[in-house]
Amino acid sequence: DVGTAVGPTPRAESGCGVLSPPRNSSGQLSTEWSFNRTLSNSIRKNILKFLDAERDISILKGALKPGDVVHYVFDRQSTTNVSESLYRLLPAVSPMKGQHHQQCAIVGNSGTLLNSSCGREIDAHDFVIRCNLAPVEEFARDVGQRTSLVTMNPSVVQRAFQDLSSEAWRERFLRRLRGLDGSVLWIPAFMAKGGEERVEWAVRLILQHALNVRTAVPSLRLLHAVRGYWLTNKVLIKRPTTGLLMYTLATRFCEEIHLYGFWPFPRDLQGNPVKYHYYDTLTYEYTSQAGPHAMPLEFRTLRALHSQGALRLQAGACQ
Ligand code: CTP
Repeated sequence: DVGTAVGPTPRAESGCGVLSPPRNSSGQLSTEWSFNRTLSNSIRKNILKFLDAERDISILKGALKPGDVVHYVFDRQSTTNVSESLYRLLPAVSPMKGQHHQQCAIVGNSGTLLNSSCGREIDAHDFVIRCNLAPVEEFARDVGQRTSLVTMNPSVVQRAFQDLSSEAWRERFLRRLRGLDGSVLWIPAFMAKGGEERVEWAVRLILQHALNVRTAVPSLRLLHAVRGYWLTNKVLIKRPTTGLLMYTLATRFCEEIHLYGFWPFPRDLQGNPVKYHYYDTLTYEYTSQAGPHAMPLEFRTLRALHSQGALRLQAGACQ
């Protein structure tokens, strides 16, 4: 039971559902979270020693040409060729160039968002990052609707859109992409082998329908750099999750970062079941068995950063 293993502190709940509020000097639990700008600035500076999100968020057109051979980041012995369509969608300049935002929301996909009423709060941020094309429309009250950047692991095309196996699934996928309307679509095309076709379907649809999305494909060094940063800080993560990757990148262009939907535990603090994803039927076995991620460890790390005021982790319902 992952939940009890890391023991999300049961008494730590404040009215607003924020985890582990820091103790004040008199030893009382403080119900207020306050932003620690000094710490946040120092984290940004340290991360910059490993990666520059403005650069590493995407490979640029000038760096590759169609037909180039690329080794997958996780499967070094396997290669793929840069397709004509993917090349056409590579940005000429970084989609994050010169961007700086006061408050950013990163929305993880945990079922903890269900009935949270966090939608309005999430949408009030200057920049909203979402993961893996998670649906928004039907869940708007809890997760909001605004999207500034959304990730798409190639596996999502299979898991959430049935590998576009029928016209109806194709239509659904297309509708989701259309809904992005100007936001950045971040596709880790060269992370792991096996997603080549799915990436190709997505980029072809974008081109064919002239969809208004700004595609980004993370640099080949990003993963190692992110891992290096956390390793140096004694957080041994072999394969950071999308959520942690997004936090690490966002420190570059966001002053204050608020996380929603990060809860890799099957129960909440009151012992009620929590769905793994807010929108599908995937279960926790998915992460606990052959899964590549170390979500509970990541969560503990984020929780520690929350209690120091470097980021804000919203774990329960919003007001
Ligand atoms: N997340 C979480 N608790 C959950 C589910 C997700 O904290 N119960 C966070 C993780 O940081 C995760 C992010 O939300 O990376 C987005 O969720 P998901 O789409 O499941 O991302 P990945 O695990 O990265 O995707 P994959 O399984 O394809 O690697």
